[in-house]
Amino acid sequence: MKLFQFVSLVSNLIIWKIVSNGNECRTPQFIEIGSVGIIQCSFRDDISGALWYKPTTFLRGNAFLTLANSVKSGEGFLSGEFDIYPNGSLIIQNVSIKHEGTYQVAILDTAASDPKIYFVNVFLFAPTFSRVPVIDNCENRSEICFQILNSNSKISCTIRDARPAIPLRLMLRTGEGDRNISSRLFIENETYPFFTSRVTTTNAFDNTRVLTLLVCEAYCPLGLLEKNESLVLIQSSDETLPNVLPKVVYAKQDTRVKLNCSGMTISYLVWQVKEPSGVIFKGLLHAIFVGDNLRHRYDEEYELQNTSIVVDNVRVHHEGTYRCISGNGFQGDVIIYELIVFGFILIHHTQSLVDAIINSTVFSRDIRREL
Ligand SMILES: *[C@@H]1O[C@H](CO)[C@@H](O)[C@H](O)[C@H]1NC(C)=O
Ligand SMILES: *[C@@H]1O[C@H](CO)[C@@H](O)[C@H](O)[C@H]1NC(C)=O
Ligand SMILES: *[C@@H]1O[C@H](CO)[C@@H](O)[C@H](O)[C@H]1NC(C)=O
Ligand SMILES: *[C@@H]1O[C@H](CO)[C@@H](O)[C@H](O)[C@H]1NC(C)=O
Ligand SMILES: *[C@@H]1O[C@H](CO)[C@@H](O)[C@H](O)[C@H]1NC(C)=O
Ligand SMILES: *[C@@H]1O[C@H](CO)[C@@H](O)[C@H](O)[C@H]1NC(C)=O
Ligand SMILES: *[C@@H]1O[C@H](CO)[C@@H](O)[C@H](O)[C@H]1NC(C)=O
Ligand SMILES: *[C@@H]1O[C@H](CO)[C@@H](O)[C@H](O)[C@H]1NC(C)=O
Ligand SMILES: *[C@@H]1O[C@H](CO)[C@@H](O)[C@H](O)[C@H]1NC(C)=O
Repeated sequence: MKLFQFVSLVSNLIIWKIVSNGNECRTPQFIEIGSVGIIQCSFRDDISGALWYKPTTFLRGNAFLTLANSVKSGEGFLSGEFDIYPNGSLIIQNVSIKHEGTYQVAILDTAASDPKIYFVNVFLFAPTFSRVPVIDNCENRSEICFQILNSNSKISCTIRDARPAIPLRLMLRTGEGDRNISSRLFIENETYPFFTSRVTTTNAFDNTRVLTLLVCEAYCPLGLLEKNESLVLIQSSDETLPNVLPKVVYAKQDTRVKLNCSGMTISYLVWQVKEPSGVIFKGLLHAIFVGDNLRHRYDEEYELQNTSIVVDNVRVHHEGTYRCISGNGFQGDVIIYELIVFGFILIHHTQSLVDAIINSTVFSRDIRREL
């Protein structure tokens, strides 16, 4: 087919019949508003001709940009709004809202071949668009986001400046899949043409009071997101945790100590420690056993074996109050240990003294102070 015939032929949209299913111009494509946008196509650099159309903004039947034997032309090219690469990709010099929509490109590989037609859906995104749902106060966490909240605290999750608007929902992750919790979705258009979606809940704890795992899930079938869910592991604050009597565990220095978490089926847990003189619990590790199976260890000395925490060579500095808070989406549990470490020095004493010492937390601490 001669090139001039091609131009006049495909200029008439009605007879466009040869639609290629190839992936030379993938669809949809996303371009950033205000930037130089490129609608990517990967044809050979020696294509004979290319015609770009956008029926909704340009006169039906007129290509706004043509490439024929390396000569560029068309209203959109002459005005400086568009340009084209030799591989057929379209350059939009300054992307604005009017550039959104469906484009059609007709390609002639060689002067003799039939034209191939491609459709590309182009969506815009804002420079501030977040490609993952963002849970409040979890912005900078790459692994498990952990928060300690009161049971009626508000949790919200946002996707900023998306187009089209992306619905979000909050779910409770359990060992048996995700469960609905009551939440409210708001979609704001203050930055129109972009939309900010926000979902909030005050029911983070549902019926599992001590530890809960919430998932903020975005529904976007366009493939616009890097990740369609974000997680937050939420522990209820100390005041609302049940009172549990600690179990005292004695361990000889340099031996291996294993502290078990709850006997129930556990979907997520946190292990924490409070030093003998301390007032607050600090995190040792967090683990999520459902979904992505995530672990986060704060202290290299503590290893997680299934749900138990293990210290290989226990030393006096490991003494303290250990707490395992666990949940599975249906119930929760808190287990507390008082770990007391005694040293080899005791071996030289009589058995009754050993008994007396290891039976006495206070005494053990006194000895430690002297060691
Ligand atoms: C098309 O060519 C341009 C310029 O060489 C290049 O930047 C772009 O990545 C190419 N696109 C594809 C899909 O190969
Ligand atoms: C792009 O267009 C916007 C408005 O449509 C304008 O404010 C901005 O200056 C333009 N940018 C360039 C680089 O021309
Ligand atoms: C996240 O990091 C940014 C910049 O580093 C900072 O401005 C912001 O306060 C941080 N957010 C949180 C929740 O830590
Ligand atoms: C959760 O809520 C959505 C929308 O309200 C509903 O379509 C879905 O069936 C619910 N799922 C469950 C497990 O209740
Ligand atoms: C933005 O939202 C308001 C209220 O929901 C609505 O009245 C208005 O038409 C919307 N604006 C645009 C540009 O969509
Ligand atoms: C999120 O992405 C996963 C895998 O990419 C997919 O299986 C799941 O259906 C998506 N969920 C939603 C709500 O789009
Ligand atoms: C943990 O469980 C194991 C076996 O299930 C048991 O031998 C061990 O004594 C337990 N540890 C504590 C500190 O209760
Ligand atoms: C973890 O638990 C499984 C089954 O409950 C058991 O077979 C395995 O030995 C345990 N692993 C460790 C390191 O305790
Ligand atoms: C602690 O005291 C009890 C009773 O006084 C005694 O039977 C036991 O042997 C002592 N030692 C340990 C390690 O519990």
